Amino acid sequence: MENKLYLYPGLIRVWHLLNALLIIILIISGLSMQYSDPLNPLIRFDLAVNMHNIAGLILIFNYLLFIIANTISKNGKHYRIQLKGLTDRLTAQFRYYTYGIFKNEPAPFPVTKKMKFNPIQQLTYFLTMYVLMPLIFLTGVPMLFSGVVVRQLIGPKAFFVTDMLHIVVGFLLSLFLIIHVYFCTFGAKPYSNFKSIVTGYHEGNH
Ligand code: HEM
Repeated sequence: MENKLYLYPGLIRVWHLLNALLIIILIISGLSMQYSDPLNPLIRFDLAVNMHNIAGLILIFNYLLFIIANTISKNGKHYRIQLKGLTDRLTAQFRYYTYGIFKNEPAPFPVTKKMKFNPIQQLTYFLTMYVLMPLIFLTGVPMLFSGVVVRQLIGPKAFFVTDMLHIVVGFLLSLFLIIHVYFCTFGAKPYSNFKSIVTGYHEGNH
């Protein structure tokens, strides 16, 4: 069909599916450990801990797949942010999301093979994949060893700080997920982008 662009290589699609599933498992098990009543837990505590640890470890391997895919498939170039004129581009996209889209204006940064992300997507995807994800691993892995490593390496308060950072970054990733899924409905049709991340082909020019 005309107007279709191949934007999501196979490795990225496999990574994305696994990534989404694992992060959902991590959010549910994390919330269960943090908030549920110990006498009446959402998921039994020891089970939630195991789920969280195993899903977290698989997520790290899957993240390495993302880094490899982004290196070998040229997909990585979409994550390289041009700082020159960034504020103006972000403002134009923000205006479109909050005003232009409701007035049926054309998208200021239509999807092309050369530039598949608009400036807001590019910045948020970059921050999520290259800042938040490494931070969640860097704060999560040391806690796998019951804080012994953290306490010995940096000091007694370090475990608390690591734990707090892990929770804050986890919260930001959960927030990203909600906003991400909402903005994915802004395609040619509300379901178009979801179809794209499964088939690899993008429809329309939003
Ligand atoms: C229910 C879960 C999720 C759904 C339904 C979903 C949906 C989508 C869709 C439709 C796209 C293609 C449109 C676009 O490029 O904007 C996409 C791309 C993307 N998603 Fe998600 N997503 C989910 C979870 C996640 C999570 C948890 C992350 C990261 C923590 C994530 C990060 C990304 C990234 C980085 C891309 C761009 C991939 C590339 O082309 O290089 N997604 N997602």
